[in-house]
Amino acid sequence: MAQLKIEIQGPVATVTINRPEKLNALNRALIQELADSIEIIEKHQEVRVVILTGEGEKAFVAGADISEFAHFNQTQGETLSAEGQEKLFNRIENFTKPVIAAINGFALGGGLELAMACHIRLASNNARLGLPEVSLGVIPGYGGTQRLAQLIGKGRAMELICSAQMISADEAYRMGLVNKVVALEELLGEAQKLAQKIAANSPNAIRAAIAALNAQYPTAHPGYQEEVRRFGSCFGHPDFEEGTTAFLEKRKPSFKGA
Ligand code: COA
Repeated sequence: MAQLKIEIQGPVATVTINRPEKLNALNRALIQELADSIEIIEKHQEVRVVILTGEGEKAFVAGADISEFAHFNQTQGETLSAEGQEKLFNRIENFTKPVIAAINGFALGGGLELAMACHIRLASNNARLGLPEVSLGVIPGYGGTQRLAQLIGKGRAMELICSAQMISADEAYRMGLVNKVVALEELLGEAQKLAQKIAANSPNAIRAAIAALNAQYPTAHPGYQEEVRRFGSCFGHPDFEEGTTAFLEKRKPSFKGA
């Protein structure tokens, strides 16, 4: 795989997103590779736990690739969101083997959405997390409006999404967005330790536990479809053009409103 590394060691598969020069930003090819990696790992019966992380010391994933979708129209925007949700994000959440996100730096936009689709999140103390989409004139489109509220409550989710602010790993820990914060050099070791603990338990019971826990938060919930529709509708608005152009031109956006 061109932008992904998969290492299988005993019961643990480690998937590393390997596009550090673009802070591991998720383009469509990468989303496809991640979806393929899930298929591959599913076939490896000896694998009981997955660790998902980013290459480098700076980013887990700094979001969806803005340069790729900046010129999309409304229909393309809707398709991007719907396909991503179905192909990858919902698939990870409903995967039968626990997926641990080892957040080794920026987890922004689609990157935080990816971490939130995982079953467990550990973060390094340099990690910065947030859903900055409204600063680009769009909204989270990979389940972020739904999963953030599930994890930290509606009030905090509303604040983080509407302010587009980034928070530290410690703040994320206090909110319950990540389960543990460790030094960057300890992150993968810590994820391995947890993975080994999980791997000692019954895979059948774990599969059942994931299904039962997820039953309270079905991905068929209309909130996900509303997100797709609203995400797409942003693409037809001048704010979207201004937000994405400003990012690509490395300047602050100036939104006219209405
Ligand atoms: N999409 C596309 N490219 C991205 C990206 C994204 N989401 N995030 C980072 N990159 C690219 C940058 O454009 C830059 O590419 P270049 O070297 O060809 O110019 C490279 O990755 C390094 O990023 P840079 O911005 O130079 O690093 P920084 O340390 O100055 O800033 C961030 C880091 C994370 C604050 C900044 O990259 C950022 O704001 N990224 C976008 C975050 C975002 O809005 N995500 C949600 C998308 S929906």
